[in-house]
Amino acid sequence: MDTHVNQDFPIDWEEDHYVSRREFFKFMTLASGGLAVGSVAMAAWSKLPRNERTFEPSSIAMRTDLQPGKALAFSYPRPKDLCILVQKPDGSYVAYSRRCTHLSCPVDYQPDKDRLFCPCHNGAFSIEDGHVLQGPPPHPLPQIMLEIRGDEIWAVGVKAGEASA
Ligand code: FES
Repeated sequence: MDTHVNQDFPIDWEEDHYVSRREFFKFMTLASGGLAVGSVAMAAWSKLPRNERTFEPSSIAMRTDLQPGKALAFSYPRPKDLCILVQKPDGSYVAYSRRCTHLSCPVDYQPDKDRLFCPCHNGAFSIEDGHVLQGPPPHPLPQIMLEIRGDEIWAVGVKAGEASA
């Protein structure tokens, strides 16, 4: 009778258990590796600033186009998104949306006061981070994220201003 069963089910149980254990450990190794990779990816993702958004990079000016204390207008990321690029007196570059956060009038750079000014209702924004210095604007100006690539200045993303306190 036992012989009959072995003929019907010719499974080597020793070998079968060995394979199952090996498969189990292989699965566990892969699963724990996957969890480790997933944890690292989640940690990296969670450190990305939530108020930053990247867009297709765009060359917006040559470094020689500006001098300290000067500004020029450009559009980013869409042609209708008017922006302003400023070379600060210390030589560094900053860029912001030109659209005032009050009623969307275009802001201009005031080198004598080193700020961005909206003539419609006397709103003013800091050149350092775009926060509201005066007037009715309810929010900071969105900042354009820049990269210097050789002699060119590129726009690579937009950082929304933190809400004013
Ligand atoms: S539109 Fe800029 S302050 Fe009103």
